[in-house]
Amino acid sequence: MLRSRITGTGSSLPEKILTNSDLELMVETSDEWITSRTGIKQRRIASEGQFTSTFAVEASRRALEMSGIKAEELDLIILGTVTPDFPFPATACIVQHEIGAVNAAAFDLSAACSGFIYGLSIADKYIRTGEARKVLVIGAEVLSRVVDWTDRNTCILFGDGSGAAVIEACEGDTGLLSTHIFSNGSYWNTLYQPGCGNRNPATNRSVIDDRLCFIKMEGNDVFKHAVRAMEEAACTALAANGMTPSDVSLLIPHQANLRIIDATAKRLGITEEERLFVNLHNYGNTSSASIPISLDEANRSGRMKPGDIVLLDAFGGGFTYGSALMRW
Ligand code: COA
Repeated sequence: MLRSRITGTGSSLPEKILTNSDLELMVETSDEWITSRTGIKQRRIASEGQFTSTFAVEASRRALEMSGIKAEELDLIILGTVTPDFPFPATACIVQHEIGAVNAAAFDLSAACSGFIYGLSIADKYIRTGEARKVLVIGAEVLSRVVDWTDRNTCILFGDGSGAAVIEACEGDTGLLSTHIFSNGSYWNTLYQPGCGNRNPATNRSVIDDRLCFIKMEGNDVFKHAVRAMEEAACTALAANGMTPSDVSLLIPHQANLRIIDATAKRLGITEEERLFVNLHNYGNTSSASIPISLDEANRSGRMKPGDIVLLDAFGGGFTYGSALMRW
């Protein structure tokens, strides 16, 4: 049976670290508050001259190197981001140029923190239908440039970085078993960037006076929906494959908030440390990059062995959510 399989992973993070103590000097907050409410201890922040494409290119090169394929062999590049280098062209096209993937079609995908799962889902469909054999899926963000550094409700949560995976066609029973993606647009304005699109174009008023080009969020609403949606996405994946949570070797959830991760893991009954991947204390919420960065760390540190059942579970603005189940 023709399947898609991840043959290489890579990630890239800015060197600059912003700790909770650093944030104490910027807004009225404390390390204790941030740690107890979110689990985050520090996040990485892009420096001047570093862009979403900077990290996407680096993560992609590392994923290609691991897979052993050349950039020219890629048929498709899909990049999930809500913080592209420019409104257009697609950041994926910049990546295509930088890595020399001259035979690939390249486009960006906007599904917020679910961007990587959405990308994986599209890659899987292209591969299963025979339209593509080698696809690069990337999640990349520089959220620090759309975070309001005067808003303590949001600025403590987010970080920058990128993760990428090379997906290849393969025969056999390892690889992606299923992907499921969902949206609930009735909450579109619960987590969003109101300005700098065409509803509120960039003007002195929208950008400077009304601060509309920064992330706005109803934290409690997002929290409630995230837990329910991630449970639904995970259960749908397991049911579709005739599995139960006890079959899962490693759950890699979107790294938004430790309390969201713990509540989801508890509902699923996947609470053991060795079955639950967590790294948000180091990076905060990197949106579409969070799952591929985690996947790369889990891969390189040997957390996944051949035959392991790995469950990816995402939730983000839109709302969007989704899951991917694979046999490693
Ligand atoms: N430091 C100190 N106090 C803070 C603070 C901060 N950084 N941010 C908010 N507070 C205050 C609030 O102003 C509020 O004070 P008040 O009671 O005087 O009004 C108090 O802390 C409690 O706020 P509340 O919103 O109830 O806290 P919470 O326990 O819900 O935690 C979040 C807030 C944002 C951490 C939590 O709602 C959350 O994580 N939501 C999901 C966000 C997310 O993951 N988004 C991305 C999804 S992909």
